[in-house]
Amino acid sequence: MTVCEYKPGLEGVPATQSGISYVDGQQGILEYRGISIEELALKSTFLETSYLLIWGGLPTKPELEEFEYEIRHHRRLKYRIRDMMKCFPERGHPMDALQACAAALGLFYSKRALDDPTYIQNAVVRLLAKIPTMVAAFQLMRKGNDPVQPCDDLDYAANFLYMLNEREPDPLAARIFDICLTLHAEHTINASTFSAMVTASTLTDPYAVVASAVGTLAGPLHGGANEEVIDMLQQIGSVENVRPFVDECITRKSRIMGFGHRVYKVKDPRATILQKLAEQLFAKFGRDEYYDIALELEQVISEKLAHKGVYPNVDFYSGLVYRKLGIPTDLFTPVFAIARVAGWLAHWKEQLEANRIFRPTQIYTGRRNQAYTPLAERP
Ligand code: ACO
Repeated sequence: MTVCEYKPGLEGVPATQSGISYVDGQQGILEYRGISIEELALKSTFLETSYLLIWGGLPTKPELEEFEYEIRHHRRLKYRIRDMMKCFPERGHPMDALQACAAALGLFYSKRALDDPTYIQNAVVRLLAKIPTMVAAFQLMRKGNDPVQPCDDLDYAANFLYMLNEREPDPLAARIFDICLTLHAEHTINASTFSAMVTASTLTDPYAVVASAVGTLAGPLHGGANEEVIDMLQQIGSVENVRPFVDECITRKSRIMGFGHRVYKVKDPRATILQKLAEQLFAKFGRDEYYDIALELEQVISEKLAHKGVYPNVDFYSGLVYRKLGIPTDLFTPVFAIARVAGWLAHWKEQLEANRIFRPTQIYTGRRNQAYTPLAERP
């Protein structure tokens, strides 16, 4: 067996072979199944892109219509899941609520038939359909309101905004939200996808796979960063404060949220698209008070940290878009999860097609051959 060098964070270590998405971090390229993210953002929809990611090719018109129909008709939550959610503390983080609800789906669909295409198809539909309803339901329930039932007349993105804000969204807002979902749907093996793959490799059910990925996405170094970006912009407070803020972060060696990426060493292509979407929203609904601070921050960081390959990542502008769409800050990461379910499911399916349980090795650094000291004799 080849002895490999230890790489903290597995940086640069291939953990799988995958045909789902491609990233070139030096040139800022992202493709899903070979199609550029720019083209998908412009021409596709989130559900069509999800189909592409999960089933490997663009659907025909009847295939897409059937997929959309199935998802539209599986959006409702079982009353027992809603009852379970009533017991959640309203101050709890919505990512924890989502993780619990995703795992709870496994209680209702406990038969595992991972070699049955119908089982796979049903799990894909249920997870894509129900995760947005869970996020919106928790938001309304923690405010003391009853959840809004999904509306069969609205498409995926518009229905989520409707369930969340209790009114039909503006069509531009709904289209922009749909593009945001497409942008966040997949990104090779990041931490949450790796977590999904490790869980999938044990041949557990897809609800456990998604629950473990949701838990991993929640951390501030991963999906949780978009929430922290808004807190940071608020804390900076004004354009004049940007330069001293960046200088202090550099002196203290603290991370500036929404910047830097393990793979991208140029501006993340999704950040470029999200910035344009934010500007479209500002043109129609008014400029966000934090946008000028964000622009100055990008400028100052490009002067001071570009030599280290630190540029805006996907989380930097997404929060400004979500704020304009009426999404509360602590729902930014759950919204990321709504989109990333597509990528997790694509990797779940790919993992099952050539499964081998993940079982890496370690380099032991602890002591050996120690004597046991009885409790009474310990100092
Ligand atoms: N602010 C300031 N400096 C940074 C940042 C940042 N956000 N990111 C990287 N750097 C610096 C590091 O300090 C390091 O400098 P050094 O060589 O002098 O020590 C250099 O750039 C290289 O950084 P690494 O630590 O090697 O980058 P790594 O790949 O480990 O980290 C990560 C990537 C975790 C995303 C990091 O950039 C970070 O913490 N960013 C802030 C959190 C964030 O926005 N996360 C979202 C990522 S996108 C996503 O998950 C959806």
